[in-house]
Amino acid sequence: MSFTAPKGSYDILPPDSSTFLAVRDALSRPARLAGYEYIETPIFEDTGLFARGVGESTEVVSKEMYTFDDKGGRSLTLRPEGTAGVMRAVIEHKLYAGQLPVKLWYAGPNFRYERPQAGRYRHFTQVGAEAVGVDDPMLDAEVVALAWDGYRTLGLRGFRLLLTSLGDETCRPPYRALLQSFLSNLDLDADTRRRAEINPLRVLDDKRPQVRAQLDGAPVMVDHLCSECAEHYDGVRTGLAAIGVEWEETPQLVRGLDYYMRTTFEFVHSGLGAQSAIGGGGRYDGLSAAIGGPDLTGIGWALGVDRTLLALRAEGVAVPAGPRVQVYGVPLGTTAAARLFALTAALRAAGVPADMAYGSRGLKGAMKAADRSGAAYAVVLGDRDIEAGTAQLKDLRSGDQVAVPLDALIATIQEKLT
Ligand code: HAM
Repeated sequence: MSFTAPKGSYDILPPDSSTFLAVRDALSRPARLAGYEYIETPIFEDTGLFARGVGESTEVVSKEMYTFDDKGGRSLTLRPEGTAGVMRAVIEHKLYAGQLPVKLWYAGPNFRYERPQAGRYRHFTQVGAEAVGVDDPMLDAEVVALAWDGYRTLGLRGFRLLLTSLGDETCRPPYRALLQSFLSNLDLDADTRRRAEINPLRVLDDKRPQVRAQLDGAPVMVDHLCSECAEHYDGVRTGLAAIGVEWEETPQLVRGLDYYMRTTFEFVHSGLGAQSAIGGGGRYDGLSAAIGGPDLTGIGWALGVDRTLLALRAEGVAVPAGPRVQVYGVPLGTTAAARLFALTAALRAAGVPADMAYGSRGLKGAMKAADRSGAAYAVVLGDRDIEAGTAQLKDLRSGDQVAVPLDALIATIQEKLT
């Protein structure tokens, strides 16, 4: 019997795994530079947190959750996203009692029982950022810009920022009623009619031509914002324009999670086919209260690491991940192996990434391993070298080889590597 990774999941193997780490690092870097601090929350939470936080009517909650009872009879769910857990932690530990906004970033796996396809997995990784407790449109602009910067610094160019405002509890209900009455006059199938009753905004995002054709002239939220929401949205756009972030007004933008209000956005990439969203987020001012917390505002995003990697590949952008090691030890015989073992440890202690050939492979096999390692230099050591108090330092690119006194080896290597 043999096993494979479960359907919808995959292994991230070397050398791609270094790119994965580099992308995760690059996507979170702008947030770290802007004062966001790292938070790590459990991979499972009480099922009720997602039901109430993300929303029972969403597909994520109603169809896609990995839910199980633990041995103590508690219903737990593998997190399908990170915002609800972060908000739960902010409330539980009263982080809002300190300086506001509470700025947090995180990275890790999420789980959704979706139909797997290219770019859509059941186990996927997000980098996220959340700013809680301040309702300032300039903060919205900061949050959006941090994601934009993350993609740009990775070298991505083929992405677009879709932006809209979903209004708030004052202006959304009357707009919803208006939209429902517009939809009720259309020629729609029974399923779509039902959807129009539960979540009419989702009908606006219907991709089928026969539905699309009828949606011309449908009322859109941005034309019906209350004055506070309109002013807030203007502030966000002014902030974004001031720092050169470009966006597309997308009034039909629909997100898959229920907690959004006001500023809402998505980053899409043209090289990915159907699963084009490489990241998304928005304001969630009602989330804290919905999960039993105080009245706290919040805005944030999550960027899909898996899809960002696919987008980079589609654009042919290489992410510099750095060499695995820079020096590789090639011992000739057991005495030399013991000396090189200690020398390799000393190189690492001096901050030089180093490895050596283990298991007596002979000169040829060990040199091949040195070449494969990607190292810039090999240190070749034999009994005769030990007697002479030297080692052979070989430049693996040029092939040049020089004898270096053993006691000057680390300093010589450090000098050559700078
Ligand atoms: P989301 O739009 O559900 O938002 O997910 C964010 C990103 O995660 C997506 O744009 C996509 O790149 C990636 N993603 C989602 N599902 C999958 C999947 N099945 N396979 C591969 N990648 C996937 C959220 O999760 C919100 N928590 C974002 C947020 C934070 N809003 C406010 N704060």
